[in-house]
Amino acid sequence: MRRTPVYYYSSSSGLVRLFAERLGRPVHDLSEREVRQSLADGPWVLLTPSYKTGNPANDTIPEAVRRFLASPANRRHLVGVMGSGNRNFGRYYQRAAREIAELSGRPVLFEFELSGTPWDVQECVRILEELDAALDRRDALRAHDSDASPAAPTAAAL
Ligand SMILES: Cc1cc2nc3c(=O)[nH]c(=O)nc-3n(C[C@H](O)[C@H](O)[C@H](O)COP(=O)(O)O)c2cc1C
Repeated sequence: MRRTPVYYYSSSSGLVRLFAERLGRPVHDLSEREVRQSLADGPWVLLTPSYKTGNPANDTIPEAVRRFLASPANRRHLVGVMGSGNRNFGRYYQRAAREIAELSGRPVLFEFELSGTPWDVQECVRILEELDAALDRRDALRAHDSDASPAAPTAAAL
């Protein structure tokens, strides 16, 4: 079964990176230019911190995340969003993850604070495994549908 990759951004404090590296699946760091400029080869999940800058045009979504999402192919393959934040930011808590989810119509799959607790890691692993299985079922149904369709005209002709 394909393990849905997680693309994450983490600043120099590295809290999100610590979390991402505990997930036990392919993770890609959007602070690396090659990663930011690449194309996801299928469904992927975003993990982003929020960074309040006070600049209304670019308030909490990290620039690296914006760049990766500028690609229509990457936007199309995005299946869910996860966020790291800090409740001290009040109404801005998880603003970046929530705004991306709203704009893209994809669900927020999981939220945690800072680098997360061991429970957060465990819960997130479970959620991602469920996602993998759901995507696998979706692919199997699609393969089944496309197997069935070429036969239909023949059956109709008989
Ligand atoms: C300058 C600054 C602004 C932040 N703004 C927000 C915010 O608006 N909302 C939020 O939930 N967390 C905010 N945080 C908390 C970070 O998103 C959180 O600590 C995250 O784990 C940082 O991940 P990183 O160390 O991988 O960059 C902010 C942190 C800093 C230092």
